[in-house]
Amino acid sequence: MKAAAAVLAERAGVAPRVGVVLGSGLGAVADAVEDPVVIGYEEMPGFPRPTVAGHSGRAVLGRVAGVPVAVLQGRAHLYEGGDPDALRVPVRALRAAGAEILVLTNAAGSLRPGVGPGSLMAITDHINLTGVNLLAGPNDDAIGPRFPALRDAYDPGLLDELRNCARELGVRLAEGVYLAVGGPSFETPAEIRAFRVLGADAVGMSTVQETIVARHCGLRVAAVSVITNLAEGMGEEPLSHEQTLRAAEAGAGDLARLLLGFIPRLQN
Ligand code: HPA
Repeated sequence: MKAAAAVLAERAGVAPRVGVVLGSGLGAVADAVEDPVVIGYEEMPGFPRPTVAGHSGRAVLGRVAGVPVAVLQGRAHLYEGGDPDALRVPVRALRAAGAEILVLTNAAGSLRPGVGPGSLMAITDHINLTGVNLLAGPNDDAIGPRFPALRDAYDPGLLDELRNCARELGVRLAEGVYLAVGGPSFETPAEIRAFRVLGADAVGMSTVQETIVARHCGLRVAAVSVITNLAEGMGEEPLSHEQTLRAAEAGAGDLARLLLGFIPRLQN
């Protein structure tokens, strides 16, 4: 992790203030980074080698409206079954390189009929049904506490900025609870009905592990889902990854506008 952080810090020149993790098909945000320095994940020890279509595997360092950022294109997922460090290392390396804020994005299915494909949803809280917590095992007290609180996992101040930004831009931004499953199979209709009872607004296969690791090491987190489909059983067709990628591209424009409005507000 320290080695990866050193590569990030050295190549960035200036410490990134904000880390951004882009989900499936959401690469457009990286294109807006000014004076980009691109680092392949293979240059950073412990970073994942993405195996999923739509995930590239590179960090784009630079500035957005003057704010130093590190945009990570590509993430590891639990369903890939690889080394769990591939999820922990990028988050901790961003923190060690100086980041204070982590912006997570993902593609998700919606449990709300009124929030359809192409919509954006700010995550207000999560339900971790992956069966995994990446903080299990020995705790390194130098990184964070044994029992981190998750009450404000999604930072209320950042959430306010997201809301304000969306309003000013005229971008519709739903809000809700993101429920994470391990995947890789999509859910059954019965699971989706159960998740609705549990209080979920969206379902996906990422983000919560990164949020937990980020809160542990003291990063403030904001997260936005791009809704790519109505959850299983709610729409006409069975789900597929191809459909997810197509719909993610449709929502990626709004996401890019939202994040490019949001990041300049994170100056200090
Ligand atoms: N379920 C799980 N993960 C997803 C979905 C879904 O419906 N859509 C995009 N990622």
